[in-house]
Amino acid sequence: MSAVLAIHPLRAPAEAAIPDQDFEVRALPEAPGGFAGEVLGLDLSRPLNAGDFARIHRAHLAHPVLVFREQRITPQQHIDFSRRFGPLQIHVLRNFQLAGHPEILVVSNILENGQPIGLGDAGHFWHSDLSYKAVPSLGSLLHAQELPGEGGDTLFADQYAAWERLPEDLKARLHGLRAEHSYLAKYEELRAKSPWRPALTPAQKAEVAPAVHPVVRTHPETGRQALFVNEHFTTRIVGLPEAESRELLDLLFGASVDARLVYRHRWQPHDLVFWDNRAVQHLASGTPDSERRKLYRTTVEGDVPV
Ligand code: SIN
Repeated sequence: MSAVLAIHPLRAPAEAAIPDQDFEVRALPEAPGGFAGEVLGLDLSRPLNAGDFARIHRAHLAHPVLVFREQRITPQQHIDFSRRFGPLQIHVLRNFQLAGHPEILVVSNILENGQPIGLGDAGHFWHSDLSYKAVPSLGSLLHAQELPGEGGDTLFADQYAAWERLPEDLKARLHGLRAEHSYLAKYEELRAKSPWRPALTPAQKAEVAPAVHPVVRTHPETGRQALFVNEHFTTRIVGLPEAESRELLDLLFGASVDARLVYRHRWQPHDLVFWDNRAVQHLASGTPDSERRKLYRTTVEGDVPV
């Protein structure tokens, strides 16, 4: 576990006399196997010393969905905290960047003057953020700004457990297989029924050229294996005939989001949820059109999956 404690010195702010914060981390009982946890009493608008940051880092590895309650932070504080985990990735849909903060993607169903202010159909299918990139995401941090009176939950599925639960003969078959991931896989399907998705320019399409990743990946920090295919972006298993690839993917998509692996996050005001895209998938449950929902998301770059 030594990698857990190795905090990159360039990412930590000046340490002089930053006091410890008094906070608690606990597993959420409604998350199977405690894969989701919550942090109580921490204030991310205050500086974090290296010891507290190391505690949070360890908590995130133990609970790949980590909910920080009561975070009254600015967009810049959200960005600064996210950056301590790695460089941030800019989403290909530039139209929903927060003004002055291109690192933040606005996720919202709100229309202002008839125009959407954010991506309203983000998370419509189960996925791991940016799995379509050659270097996918380490994790995403989603901060509640405005929550609906009903609906608007986010579901998370534990991909360590998804892998562990597969039959041994299937695991043996999957070892060494690689799958293609494409941002464009469902883009036109989503675009046909939404006001949020513009036609992509050739430059944007080049930015999201398909990537190929192992079907099962080893988490670079915990060393645990996790299933790494998702219904939104994974298009085929490389080297298999189309029908066999489709059948195998459909089986894996079902197994990866089995109800016994899922935690439903019911948002509370000022929640900041940090999930590990190397170990979980997520899905937006949907919000009634009559309700307003707005959240800000940053996305931290990870490693090439192995
Ligand atoms: C996302 O997929 O990043 C958004 C999830 C949500 O809106 O609940």
